[in-house]
Amino acid sequence: MSIKGKKKVVVVTAYDYPTAKAVDEAGVDIILVGDSLGMTVLGLPSTLQVTMDDMLRHTAAVARAEPKALLVADMPFGSFEIDDKEAMRNAVEFLRVGADAVKIEGGSEYADVVRNIVRGGVPVMGHVGLTPQMHKRLGGYRLMGRTAEEAAGIVRDAEDIAEAGAFSIVIEYTASEVAAEITKRVAVPTICIGSGPNCDGQVLVFHDIVGLSANPPPFAKQYVNLHDIIRDAIAKYRSEVESGLFPEKSRYWKMKEGELDRLLKMLYSRPED
Ligand code: KIV
Repeated sequence: MSIKGKKKVVVVTAYDYPTAKAVDEAGVDIILVGDSLGMTVLGLPSTLQVTMDDMLRHTAAVARAEPKALLVADMPFGSFEIDDKEAMRNAVEFLRVGADAVKIEGGSEYADVVRNIVRGGVPVMGHVGLTPQMHKRLGGYRLMGRTAEEAAGIVRDAEDIAEAGAFSIVIEYTASEVAAEITKRVAVPTICIGSGPNCDGQVLVFHDIVGLSANPPPFAKQYVNLHDIIRDAIAKYRSEVESGLFPEKSRYWKMKEGELDRLLKMLYSRPED
């Protein structure tokens, strides 16, 4: 039974074991191992440099947290565009390391790729609107669908991806009316990021939520500033080490009574003594 219309779907990214544990305990519906890990975790300039190896390693780490949430992994740039066989082989790799589904960026032109992977047994989440893997072709990371022509193209993209068998569709950084129209027209849940409230759910990047992103997008909301909390904790540790306050007596242990004398004898007595 579809969740559409019953409750808002809450999606957040995670890229490692401890984060996945915390995110899952918070009760989200879907954990996305996004290729945003290129920027958030690996310090890369964009998602274009993210490889299958990167994605598989991080997906496996998240899977080891055994989340209750559905685990979706992003298929990285270059992993599904070349031909159907390679796309299927790569999609299968994600299920082998513990993902429940994959996400593919792209509109109508990738409908057949989505259809083929779904037919092969791998559930697919679509991703339309701003598709960062195509930022060079799209003219940067910009708000999409502000004109009727561009908006109509995005609506068609979403309908084709839904028709191809995607179980859900991410709509990124479109004018809010476009996301609302898609949400009305497709039977599967839409998950928005930067595309307004009239969607079936929302997704945010973990590092944006917790204040660990160097360049958060304008639509992200920061709920805590972990960067400052971490910096202050590490600065305190540094100062305690430098001043001798750390480690305290409760954090180190002594030898058994009399054993130090025996050790010193062993170490410093000459054999003839
Ligand atoms: O890579 C990612 O984190 C994403 C989300 C922004 C939807 O694709």
